[in-house]
Amino acid sequence: MKLLDLYAKMKGDLNQIEKELERSVADDHMLLSESSLHLLKAGGKRIRPIIVLLAGKFGEYKLDTLSKVAVPLELIHMASLVHDDVIDDADTRRGQLTVKSKWDNRIAMYTGDYIHGKALSIVSQLPNPQIHQILANALVQMCIGEMEQIRDFFNTDQSIRHYLRRIRRKTALLIAISCKLGAIAAGVDRKTANLLYRYGYNVGMAFQIRDDLLDLYGTEKQIGKPPGSDMRQGNITLPVILALQDENSRGNLLHELALIREQSGRSDTRKAIRIVRESAGGDLAERLASRYIEKALHALKDLPDVAAKKSLADIARFLGKRNY
Ligand code: IPE
Ligand code: IPE
Ligand code: MG
Ligand code: MG
Repeated sequence: MKLLDLYAKMKGDLNQIEKELERSVADDHMLLSESSLHLLKAGGKRIRPIIVLLAGKFGEYKLDTLSKVAVPLELIHMASLVHDDVIDDADTRRGQLTVKSKWDNRIAMYTGDYIHGKALSIVSQLPNPQIHQILANALVQMCIGEMEQIRDFFNTDQSIRHYLRRIRRKTALLIAISCKLGAIAAGVDRKTANLLYRYGYNVGMAFQIRDDLLDLYGTEKQIGKPPGSDMRQGNITLPVILALQDENSRGNLLHELALIREQSGRSDTRKAIRIVRESAGGDLAERLASRYIEKALHALKDLPDVAAKKSLADIARFLGKRNY
């Protein structure tokens, strides 16, 4: 099944989430609302809210309660993108100008904070401190992941393990807790919630590996931004780490990366991309992403047989192969 079929199936509930997302950033301040809505309306896959709702199907499914988890999770994701584009100096996202590029960095920083604040004000309407704690902890971990990424810019000697620890923090945890918080909000038992968490964690790992592959193999049309952005910025991702471990590509790639570094982001990354593409890095990274998808599917096995289980399996398969 394609993601589109899943959207169609969940249309009513997703429309409501969409309305609440819009409402959440709509009125306080004209410019902040405008900049937030700019990113919101640019689209996005809404993977995190979808996962929250599907996890909720394993318990007592109440859309009003679940949306108080789904909306904040999408908002937190969005806030992190607005900030990420400042850090990455990125001009386009979701095929549109980034907030930092349409307005400026200062406005982008406050837009991210504003969206964050809105997320917290919605989730705090739920009287469950466990939800607040899990969310707060994930935010802390995301920041650590992003800081580690900056520290590791142009570090050509990093290990795969090191990379995996970083993407666990910056991406996988938020997807894992989308599952867990959806489950908790629907009152599912602890064993089921933990299995859902494991599913989300593994999907999240595959998700970021795929994102990193797309940055090297995708087209601008597919990914909504120019390819090679990660390398230009010094972010050494899995396919590059693997290409550096490949004797046939290591020397040339080190040379290109040194050039990119010297020209501090102004350089052409096409040559470096070509070297990675011709190395074994891409295939090996694909294989690792598939392994995470297998693990995600495995975590689903012991879950009760509700229809959402199949949708989660479909999402995992889709995300493992996604090309946008
Ligand atoms: C992009 O996330 C950033 C990562 C965590 C890899 P998504 O691919 O979910 O972004 P949108 O929301 O669909 O634009
Ligand atoms: C995801 O990483 C960003 C966050 C987790 C905030 P990326 O830097 O790979 O995201 P894109 O590629 O810019 O969407
Ligand atoms: Mg980025
Ligand atoms: Mg990326």
